[in-house]
Amino acid sequence: MKAEFLDDFLSHAKSQHHGYELYTLELPEWRPLLMELTEFLSAEEKDQIPKKIVSVREQFICGHGILRHLLSQRINRPPQTIDFKTNPWSKPYLSKTDHPQSPYFNISHDKDKVLIGVSENREIGVDIMYIEEKRDILEIAKRYYSKSEQDFLFRQSGFEQYKSFYYIFCQKEALIKAHGQGLSLGLEKFSVEPDPAKKPRVIDYPPQEQLFGRAVLEAPFEITKSIAIVCLVPPDQSNGS
Ligand SMILES: CC(C)(COP(=O)(O)OP(=O)(O)OC[C@H]1O[C@@H](n2cnc3c(N)ncnc32)[C@H](O)[C@@H]1OP(=O)(O)O)[C@@H](O)C(=O)NCCC(=O)NCCS
Repeated sequence: MKAEFLDDFLSHAKSQHHGYELYTLELPEWRPLLMELTEFLSAEEKDQIPKKIVSVREQFICGHGILRHLLSQRINRPPQTIDFKTNPWSKPYLSKTDHPQSPYFNISHDKDKVLIGVSENREIGVDIMYIEEKRDILEIAKRYYSKSEQDFLFRQSGFEQYKSFYYIFCQKEALIKAHGQGLSLGLEKFSVEPDPAKKPRVIDYPPQEQLFGRAVLEAPFEITKSIAIVCLVPPDQSNGS
């Protein structure tokens, strides 16, 4: 596939924000290119392509293929040869020692969307979630949400309650993904903004997690059927590289 053609296609998916760029990939649009994107993967990654669920396979090929393309341009290496490392909590990164030009990056996927965030100077975590009217949200909230988050959520009803549930979840996930330690941090130990009408932010956090106080949360798009959240944290205190 010609790089210029791909870049042209990608320009429709790209949005530029303060300190980071975001690629929102709609799988139906990328489906015709999946065979070619597979060729961007390393031999090892091709072996890891999920086989059972079609949407999961497509998310994998599209997300990993486009990420490799984006990074290959910046570090000047063929996409297939890029050697990702993972931190102890499985967050992929490129070593700054081996690739000083490498940006920070993170992927999220849900159903037919893949989100890729790229930041030059700060560790980044992205999360995208569809608002699904599932029955068990209150049970999940009782287990994983802080007291103040639960208090707000339990006062809501109908779609507003679902929206708040996912708004909280998405912020928590973007934050732990930027931080790099995944769910080991304990989702219930910190609070984020529960009201989707207000800007995302960290409200309180354990004193030992000072990085949470320096995290910047953003909702890059209007909340409709899905919610996207981006979190940026200073790189020197994160666990991603
Ligand atoms: C990775 C994690 C932080 C979030 O995963 P998730 O929300 O399920 O999935 P997302 O699509 O947002 O992100 C997956 C991507 O994050 C990246 N990732 C993996 N581990 C990561 C980590 N520790 N930190 C940051 N990013 C990570 C990977 O690139 C992964 O994509 P890949 O599998 O195609 O390589 C992980 O902790 C997890 O397992 N979460 C489960 C969340 C859960 O229980 N949800 C219940 C909903 S009600």
